[in-house]
Amino acid sequence: MSESELSQRLDRVYRARDLSDLERAYDEWASQYDEEVSRLGYLLRAVSTGYIGRFIPSASKVVDAGAGTGLIGAYLRIMGYDDLTAFDLSEGMLERARFRGCYRDVHRMVLGKPLDFEADSFDHGYAVGVFTEGHAPPESFEEIIRIIKPGGFFVFSIRDDVYRERGYREKQDALERDSRWELAGASDLFQPYKDSKPEVISRVFVYRILTG
Ligand SMILES: C[S@@+](CC[C@H](N)C(=O)[O-])C[C@H]1O[C@@H](n2cnc3c(N)ncnc32)[C@H](O)[C@@H]1O
Repeated sequence: MSESELSQRLDRVYRARDLSDLERAYDEWASQYDEEVSRLGYLLRAVSTGYIGRFIPSASKVVDAGAGTGLIGAYLRIMGYDDLTAFDLSEGMLERARFRGCYRDVHRMVLGKPLDFEADSFDHGYAVGVFTEGHAPPESFEEIIRIIKPGGFFVFSIRDDVYRERGYREKQDALERDSRWELAGASDLFQPYKDSKPEVISRVFVYRILTG
């Protein structure tokens, strides 16, 4: 597959019409996803895993929101994280995450809707590649805060244009003003697909949950 065909794959998910269309796009991409994102130079995974390792202890119960095929979970499993729970919108992606064997539990759930977990179910959480064009909305943070215990960290990547223009910055700041979470770390801006799409720039944020 050429670089421009790979770039079209990304366009297909960025331009999904709605959640069903997005789910279909990821279901169709699932069997090729790992190989193709690697060929795009998926720097996002390396930087995000570094931040997870810096803030989240391996001996804790961790939720992977928008886990996809489980690429990040696979890295963390090697690093000794053995209590990981995955959820994602796409069954096609989750089938591969299950097959990887790095998660204790794997569920189909949707960010932006109520999550089927009890309050304070997890010590910490992360989401990589999920807060981006047409994927999980800013309201998703409410449920994330509910399911992670106070004191826990939530590490996530976010596309910078989406952060500035689609209400995420306002939501993140409002949650901080309301003492629901506090900023604990942020990366520099970087190009997540270093071999493609130079116009796409991301950042990793880390928040400490204060109240559910
Ligand atoms: C770019 S992939 C990232 C997957 C994985 N985190 C990784 O880093 O390889 C985005 C994932 O988010 C999922 N997703 C998109 N919108 C979602 C939503 N609202 N709720 C849950 N998962 C969502 C997609 O199905 C897809 O698996």
